[in-house]
Amino acid sequence: MNKTNTAGIISTGKALPVGKLTNFDLEKIVDTSDEWIKARTGIEERRIITGNETASGLAARAASIALERAGLSPAEIDVIIVATVTPDQTLPSTACLLQDKLGAFNASAFDLVAGCTGFLYGLDVGIRYINSGAARYILLVGVDTLSPIVDWQDRNTCVLFGDGAGAVVLGKLEEGRGVLASKMYSDGSKANLLYVPAGGSTRPATRQSVEERAHYIKMNGQEVFKFAVTVMVDSVQEVLALCGKTAADLDILAPHQANLRIINFACKRLKMQPEQVLVNIHRYGNMSSAAIPVVLDEAVEEGKLKVGHLVGLVSFGAGLTWGAAIAQW
Ligand code: ACO
Repeated sequence: MNKTNTAGIISTGKALPVGKLTNFDLEKIVDTSDEWIKARTGIEERRIITGNETASGLAARAASIALERAGLSPAEIDVIIVATVTPDQTLPSTACLLQDKLGAFNASAFDLVAGCTGFLYGLDVGIRYINSGAARYILLVGVDTLSPIVDWQDRNTCVLFGDGAGAVVLGKLEEGRGVLASKMYSDGSKANLLYVPAGGSTRPATRQSVEERAHYIKMNGQEVFKFAVTVMVDSVQEVLALCGKTAADLDILAPHQANLRIINFACKRLKMQPEQVLVNIHRYGNMSSAAIPVVLDEAVEEGKLKVGHLVGLVSFGAGLTWGAAIAQW
């Protein structure tokens, strides 16, 4: 670890759609029950975009809060990274739409696609920009609006996801604070465990693709689950080792919010107390790239996450991708 590598998270913000969809609402849509969803996933309700709400709109709301808390104007941002698998549209990037909404006219802007690991991939890229001196301030947003690409006839998937956005401003912190280590991984041979078959260039939208419901998420839940429980623990251990720490040094774990059983398994294997592990899946479901920045923002607001805490961040998602980071808050 290099002691001068002090890029880290300066501030956080979040934005959630107004619309709530409870498990009881879902009972009216598919053959499921509140009892099943709570027992198997920990989810009780999720937020869903309605009306004019968009990914870029949620991103702008979350980003404005993070910028204000950082005491920065949009013009001071050098790079905008938007981690998402649900851009407003294929072209241009949601990052460019966000740049325009914020008036961040000095920034370069791009989207980053890494499934639910997108926010951590963005953190990994962002801190390297800053530590190399290529950027001073970076706006990193994790936003996903999965509700339009979830098949509301498929009980295996539609109960799991929710929409939301979380934003952070990255910049240099004083020595000793910041991201101490991060490492990202992917295994493209597992791409077919979680994917959307149509809508890309190999299978553009046709009447047939729509009739076959090929524009919706397909997932092999059991295989993703088995994969997740392994990598959630192993990747945290690896980044801890990179900065000379062990799980016993962690004050807080901020895991991806995909399934409470996966989170509890990781918590147990890392020998952490439940109160050290940030959880909000019961209120929002799996918000993909937004999950970690939103849970961090809530922990800061609630006073659970304080300056000086050693925090582990870990996620997995479509790709398959996974990754972890250790930050001295
Ligand atoms: N309501 C009621 N019953 C259901 C539902 C539902 N919503 N969904 C599935 N079932 C049924 C199944 O049909 C099956 O019935 P059967 O035994 O008669 O065949 C039974 O429940 C058990 O199904 P399993 O798939 O074995 O259930 P499991 O305990 O594995 O839970 C779940 C399923 C919740 C999907 C779990 O596997 C999981 O969370 N996997 C990880 C998914 C994940 O994290 N995805 C996100 C990745 S991140 C990203 O990039 C977006």
